[in-house]
Amino acid sequence: MKSSDLRRKFIDYFTAPPRSHREVPSGSLVPPDDPTLLFTNAGMVQFKRVFQGLERRDYARAVTCQKCVRAGGKHNDLEQVGYTARHHTFFEMLCNFSFGDYFKKEAIAYAWEWVTGTDWLGLDPQRLFITVHHADDEARKLWRSVAGVPDDRIYGLGDKDNFWQMGDTGPCGPCSEILVDIRSTERGARSRELGLDEFVRLSEAGQLLEIWNLVFMQYDQRADGARSALPAPSVDTGAGLERIAAVMQTVASNYDTDLFQPLIEQAVSIVGRPYDRGPGGAPYRVLADHARAVAVLLADGVYPSNEGRGYVLRRILRRAVRYAWLLGRREPTLAPLTQAVNAVMGPVYPELPQKAAHIERVTRAEEERFLETIEGGLARLGQLANQSAISGEEAFQLYDTFGFPIDLTQMIAGERTQAVDVAGFEQALEKQRRRSRAARKAGMGDGGRGKRGVGEWVELKKKVRQQWIGYETTRAETEPIAFRQTGDQLELILEDNPFYAESGGQVSDTGVVKGDGWELTVEAVEKVDGKSAVVGTFGDPFEPTPALAQVNEARRRNIERNHTATHLVHAALRKILGTHVRQAGSVVAPDRLRFDFSHHGPITDEALAHIEEEVNEQIWANLPVATRDMAYKEAIAAGAMAFFTEKYGDRVRVVDVPGVSLELCGGTHVPTTGQIALFRFTHETGAAAGVRRIEALTGPAAYRHALDLQHRLAEAAGLLKTQPEHLARRIEAMLEENRKL
Ligand code: ALA
Repeated sequence: MKSSDLRRKFIDYFTAPPRSHREVPSGSLVPPDDPTLLFTNAGMVQFKRVFQGLERRDYARAVTCQKCVRAGGKHNDLEQVGYTARHHTFFEMLCNFSFGDYFKKEAIAYAWEWVTGTDWLGLDPQRLFITVHHADDEARKLWRSVAGVPDDRIYGLGDKDNFWQMGDTGPCGPCSEILVDIRSTERGARSRELGLDEFVRLSEAGQLLEIWNLVFMQYDQRADGARSALPAPSVDTGAGLERIAAVMQTVASNYDTDLFQPLIEQAVSIVGRPYDRGPGGAPYRVLADHARAVAVLLADGVYPSNEGRGYVLRRILRRAVRYAWLLGRREPTLAPLTQAVNAVMGPVYPELPQKAAHIERVTRAEEERFLETIEGGLARLGQLANQSAISGEEAFQLYDTFGFPIDLTQMIAGERTQAVDVAGFEQALEKQRRRSRAARKAGMGDGGRGKRGVGEWVELKKKVRQQWIGYETTRAETEPIAFRQTGDQLELILEDNPFYAESGGQVSDTGVVKGDGWELTVEAVEKVDGKSAVVGTFGDPFEPTPALAQVNEARRRNIERNHTATHLVHAALRKILGTHVRQAGSVVAPDRLRFDFSHHGPITDEALAHIEEEVNEQIWANLPVATRDMAYKEAIAAGAMAFFTEKYGDRVRVVDVPGVSLELCGGTHVPTTGQIALFRFTHETGAAAGVRRIEALTGPAAYRHALDLQHRLAEAAGLLKTQPEHLARRIEAMLEENRKL
């Protein structure tokens, strides 16, 4: 049964009469107005006040599929993710609720029918076990009378297992669980009766898998430790979608279900190494899990930062970068995976496709930022490997200089059974916080700007025009002319701006702006009233000073390689396929280029090889790339390629590779084609009717691609105990042998 069917069936079962529950969409992962919780960690969170009688709804029964995150707060599963079959930072919970309407009897009857009914999950009752709170005789009796479960399959357990509460405070009550024996999936393979000890042992070992928790909400836990009665007995149930999917798809691990497999497959295709279901596959499981959490948290408005929710998100992201690093990745990996998450979950959570671009952009920027320092941090950790423990100061230095969250340091140290002085780290961190608070107080008032509202633009230098200087330089000493701070996002408009803002397919620059006592990592560049604003995370109140703006140089150079290569490939396509070829769209990124163009039917391998060779010839000829301002008419008359759907002014900028290509273009380019170094196609597909799409790599990415192929070939040859050059002959011989056999 597909997971999408599971969600649907659950909602269908509970909305249908006579059960007649109201279908309610998932609440946000950020519980509004609830400072007691970091994230929504269970389905009942959005109804907390309804249980408490503080809020009324026009329904007393509800059914939901709720997004949950258990990371960083009271329920924290982050450390286990990747190493078990069941732990996740993000998961979905199927829930039904009664707000003072039905109680234990119906809750049990509904749960049993949905789990065992042949129209629903149809699980064999012989495989099921029940737990109740040991003092809850009523629930025990009801499981017998309503569901017909024999008494020897019902286990009474204590508060630790069978009393549920949402947090240190809030609604709570005794609970009852349904467990399924996953040692055998055969129908009729009756699980024999188990003594209490054996039952506990098997459930702790995950062989009896809890698939549903029914909480009989009766109390409100108060901060002073006392419990008061809720206005009416209520029901809160939760069934983890991932584990039910694993049971219904008869796979051993949640990661083998259709919720995760597409993500793991995508990660495998990005990384290029096979997935191992055993311990070796942990990095892939981490990537799949964390990509989901990152996508849903960003979609719900959490932004990476150094505090609170944003810091949990950052820690998840950095943990993922470290695992991708272990797989050999040196460029963003999670960013493309978040798009695969959208494909799997977008139909259920519309905020994902709506925010797809934002999710990709922020994830990529965060990954790039950590990739700049992770190598140094890992090297430092390597130097510390022989010490018996990592001191608080060292852990703080890893945090401060290399951006290593303390739990990442602990995890890496833990892998080699090395302790970390966490208390010492906290002290060093607190000392630094005190220092920066004091510096802020001493040095900066409100700069004479008077009061300002959060989220409004503050103009610092009126009537100053922004200068775009990014064609000439990637670095500038300049001043902010306006800024806006919203939450922990800061947008800055610089007087002299070297940062390119996405346009004509070329992606925005990233980099850093450093002022006196502050630093902004530029994650994106946006257009605001015709000016470019650099955007990044900034937790403290912003106090502007003159600053040094520095574009990420290596990244920009790779973008330029891909941009000039796009012009060369456009020209080569026209030369080899014909002048009907016209650009229909492009993406010019640091790690790849994509080019859509008008053409009917696929391109033969021969033609592709020819085009690739043509582009490389132009690269090796090391032609100058010149840019000029021209009158539009003159440029078109000279044969310049333009997008006819685009509006151009009277004066246009043309990019000229003499004798090869002339295009109207506002992007940035290499000074000579030789800088591109190497051009390789990676894909050729159809993008739409009459439109083909090619993807290609240049420079360092093309080189890495070649190395990667070489490694894979060597790996395959190694498996067949031969040399790469004899591989084909060896395979032929094997095929022949197989035929004979
Ligand atoms: N709120 C209950 C849980 O999360 C159902 O297990």
